[in-house]
Amino acid sequence: METRVLPFNEASIEDAARLILTGQPVAVPTETVYGLAADATNPEAVAKIYEAKGRPSFNPLIIHVPDLQSAEKIADLSGRLRALAKKHWPGPLTLVAPRRADSGIASLATAGLGTVAVRVPRHPAMQALLRAVGRPLAAPSANASGSISPTRAGHVFRSLGGRIPLVLDAGPSHGGIESTIVAESAGEVRLLRPGLIVVPGAKPVSGGSIVAPGQLASHYAPRKPLRLDATSAEPREYLIGFGRVEGEVSLSPSGDLIEAAARLFDLLHRADNSEAQRIAVAPIPDNGLGAAINDRLKRAAAPVRL
Ligand code: TXA
Ligand code: MG
Repeated sequence: METRVLPFNEASIEDAARLILTGQPVAVPTETVYGLAADATNPEAVAKIYEAKGRPSFNPLIIHVPDLQSAEKIADLSGRLRALAKKHWPGPLTLVAPRRADSGIASLATAGLGTVAVRVPRHPAMQALLRAVGRPLAAPSANASGSISPTRAGHVFRSLGGRIPLVLDAGPSHGGIESTIVAESAGEVRLLRPGLIVVPGAKPVSGGSIVAPGQLASHYAPRKPLRLDATSAEPREYLIGFGRVEGEVSLSPSGDLIEAAARLFDLLHRADNSEAQRIAVAPIPDNGLGAAINDRLKRAAAPVRL
């Protein structure tokens, strides 16, 4: 794939919005770092973010919206979180709150969680893109998994060139580090990721409640036992198929990993809510996005309860 780098202006925002509405991810500057943005309501578009980044697992992503009113269509903000939003938005603050049932956000973007991370960015390019697209945008940092976060279009190009269609260039990001993330739990504001905005009184989440930096232990795991690499269903088992393994439902009958990633959490929920007593999942090849799918399935099959 050819990766174009275009200066941020009206015409390039139109190009970017068109690509996003056709399900492609586009790199866009924000005031913290460059983000890789895709339509958060389109599961296959979200899967392409993970694919382009070569992410070995599915972290929940931050959902970007143009203003507080749009954020409240996605998340149920408590009074305290709303007050923080009014003080710091637009700006480098992300709020984690219960996800509204009618949010329309793809479950892959929230890694199947019942909560969602939302932020209203200040950068004019990201603001312009949000308004041109008219949909919430999921956007992690625009770099290959495991490499340094990008603060210039050139960093993005070196890391993701050939894997994404477009990078919008608006010069260096001023913040340089990702947004501060806070959540409210048990009536207290918790700091999930430190950043440029200091939230007085927010207690860092520490010890057993986090499995990896910024990644909560409460990642979705089904209530029912989960068996992997299954080629047929055993009695009272709900088989999730892939490729030639048909099952009750299929992650992707054609064996397409983008489609499989896009459907993963929805089908796990469906299996969990079915009459069956157990869940089984067909073998998924470990290449490309398959590695992230298998990582998630392994955790779901052997949930770590901290
Ligand atoms: O500055 C930023 O926030 C950048 C720019 C591009 O906006 N974005 C960014 O996004 O850093 P991302 O998707 O890489 O951040 C994801 C982090 C996760 O690792 C996790 O810590 C947290 O956001 N997160 C997302 N959803 C969450 C949730 N439901 N519960 C707890 N943490 C969540
Ligand atoms: Mg990152």
